[in-house]
Parts: sequence; structure tokens; C-alpha cells
Amino acid sequence: MLDVNHEITVPRIRTELPGPLARQFVARDERVTSPSYTRVYPLVVARGQGAMLEDVDGNWFLDFNAGIAVCSTGHCHPRVVEAIHRQSSQLLHMSGTDFYYPAECELAEKLTQITPGTFPKKVFFTNSGAEALEAAFKLARFHTRRQQVIAFLGAFHGRTMGALSLTASKVTQRHGFGPLVPGVTHIPYGDSAAIEKTLFNRLMAPDEVAAIFVEPIQGEGGYIVPPPEFHRELKAICEKYGILYVVDEVQSGMGRTGRMCAIEHWGVEPDIVCLAKGIASGLPLGAIVARADVMDWPPGSHASTFGGNPVACAAALETIALLQEELIANAARVGEFLIAGLKALQARHPAIGDVRGKGLMLAIELVQPGSDKLPAPDAAERLVQTCFHKGLLLLRCGASAVRLCPPLVITREQAETALAIIGESLAEME
Ligand SMILES: Cc1ncc(COP(=O)(O)O)c(C=O)c1O
Repeated sequence: MLDVNHEITVPRIRTELPGPLARQFVARDERVTSPSYTRVYPLVVARGQGAMLEDVDGNWFLDFNAGIAVCSTGHCHPRVVEAIHRQSSQLLHMSGTDFYYPAECELAEKLTQITPGTFPKKVFFTNSGAEALEAAFKLARFHTRRQQVIAFLGAFHGRTMGALSLTASKVTQRHGFGPLVPGVTHIPYGDSAAIEKTLFNRLMAPDEVAAIFVEPIQGEGGYIVPPPEFHRELKAICEKYGILYVVDEVQSGMGRTGRMCAIEHWGVEPDIVCLAKGIASGLPLGAIVARADVMDWPPGSHASTFGGNPVACAAALETIALLQEELIANAARVGEFLIAGLKALQARHPAIGDVRGKGLMLAIELVQPGSDKLPAPDAAERLVQTCFHKGLLLLRCGASAVRLCPPLVITREQAETALAIIGESLAEME
């Protein structure tokens, strides 16, 4: 594993940030790209290797974002790059919903094996997480012939109209885009009792509900791990009323939490699993994996020109092999080391109100010291910016959390470096 991180000691910051070339690109980019993009800091990346990124000015950063939990095998893992080369010299595209090619079939077989449950399954391929959620939403309605769905406050499921309707993370994401898809009701995350007590009592009959959409660990909402019984209780409600249990593993899946799918931590078998992000190490690919008897829509009812692209499928097959060989275990191991280190930082810095997560899906919550844990979004922002200037790439999530979602190839030494930089930054902020 170490060979993908080679011998450069990161971070290595040689210019002011942003450097002269980065400044030029930021200025050019701002003139021509959508103002809806949320650039967190002026990082202009030239190349990546393992958990390291070099910017256009020759500065090296330690990457604890992984392209927002995407580059699971690290940047440009040689085996993934080789698989992409091989496939791209043979076939670039054939539209997998209209024709057959081996990579799509092989990946579908593999996905049915690595997702929870030994029952027969079928796979529909997409290009993104949002499209996977769209597909799951449509399939749930189609299969059950029911219209209502239940989702959770704080959830992020994507930004296309259906996925956005399931999303309840930040008002900016929904503001101005209504009316959204009707039939979605949000309840507090972690509160399975609200479904029978409130929803089925006051708002809708259970036989109108097609599905419950849930993130095993809430991602953009703040890397929130739910109460221990939450998923089992949800699943029991689903079984009682013939409702589909749909898990969104777009951010939490593909080994990130130390299991292939995060829902495995709770031993629950979903009816539909939504995957994307880490599935192909950076190539655009998503999928839903459903019980075979649930995926009963007929030819032509749903399709995608690019979904299941052969190059992306080849990258995914190699990604899964690497995850199974060593990277899921590495995520669990280094994750435990990181969480212990973050807890040690919490003991020294009252600005950290909470440390949470599983594997390499970790977050620290910044709070106002002495305030009984009032959120401190400004402190979270300051921590991210301070770490950037020291060469550690972090991102926020939720109201005032900072997430750590590095590539699953990170070493213990890189984790130590990250902890040292976070500690130094917190000390400077005090
Ligand atoms: C849990 C979850 N679902 C869905 C999505 C949407 O994925 P995409 O941005 O690929 O459309 C995201 C993206 O952050 C996510 O975290």
C-alpha cells in the first residue's frame, strides 16, 4: 500500500497560498464557471498520488477529502489506472442499457455479491449519486404502486429534482427550485418512533408509503451516527407494512467505514442499496442494487445512455478488488487510530465538542467553549482554512463539524501528520 504514497513527505508548502499560478486559474475559473459551485479554498490541483495532491505551484497537500469521499483507492492508484488504460484501448462506450459488454455484466455480478443479503439481486447503473437516488425513487414507486416516501431531516441525497426532494440538508440547496416532487415527508434522523406514532397516525396510511430512504450514517448532514437500534427498527417497520428499505450508501459505502457497506455495522439487509462516489475511484459511476423481485420494471421504463460506461466499470472492478484485498481493513485500522487521536485532541481542546464516525468517515464537532456545546460554525470554518494553509485538506459538514474522509490508502504516519496539524491549528485558534 505504501508504494502508492511514495517517499515525498507531505505536506510541503513552498509558496504563499494560493500561489501565483493558482491565483491565475482561480481568476479565470471564476469568470466562466457556475457561481453555484462552493469552492472552499483556492486549491488548484495539478496531480494526485495516493493521499497526496500537488497543486499547480508545486505545493504538496495531504488529502483528507478524497474528492469528497470518492477517491477510495487514493489518487491514480496504479492498478486502477492500468485497468482504465486497458479498457479504454478496447471499448470506450456502447450504451449499456441497449447493448451487452463484459465489464458491465461482470461488475453487476460483483455488486450483487458484495452488497448485504444473499438473496438474488439486480443492478441498474447510473453516472452519479443523484441519479442512483432518482432510480431508487422511481423503482420504489413503480414496484409498490405507492406514492409516498419517508426521508430524514439532515439527509443529503443529491440535487436533481427527485433526489433534491429527498434532500433536507441546507435551505440553499432547495431555495428557489420548488415545487419539488410531491409525496416526500421528512422526520428527524434517528427517530424511528415518529413513523408509527406521528406519520401513520396523523398524515398518511402505511399502505401509501413506497419506501424509507436513509443514509446509514448521515453524510453532508454532519457525519451523524444514529442510535444503535435505529436501522433495525426502521427495517422492522418496513417489513410490517410492505415498505421498501432503501439505503443511500453513496458516501458511506465502498469500504469507507471499515465495511463494504456501512449498513453492515447494524446487520440490516436493505431492499435497495444506492452506490456512487467511491465505487470507481474517481470515474463517474453510480448504481442501485435491488432485490431481484423488487427490480421488476419492464424494458424501456428506465435507462441511461452513459450509465455503466465500460471504462468506469473496469475502474470499479479493480477498485473493489483493492478494497477487498486490503483497503477496507486499512480503513478500519487507521480509522480506529484516528478516532483515538481525535479524542485525545478533544481532551486538550474545549473547542471540540464531539468526535464521531466509523472507519474513515469521521468528524469533529466544533462548539463554543464553555457553552454547553453550542455549535461554532465560524470555528469550523477557521479550522478548515488554517489546516489548508498548513497543507492539510479538510471539509466541513453539518452545522459546525469538520469531516475527515481521506482515501482508504492513508497510512498511520499520514494520520499522525493530520492529527498534528489539526492540533496545531486548534492551539493557534485558542
Ligand atoms: C449520501 C449521498 N447521496 C447522494 C449524493 C449525491 O451524489 P452526486 O453528487 O454524485 O450526485 C451525495 C453527494 O454528496 C451523498 O453524500
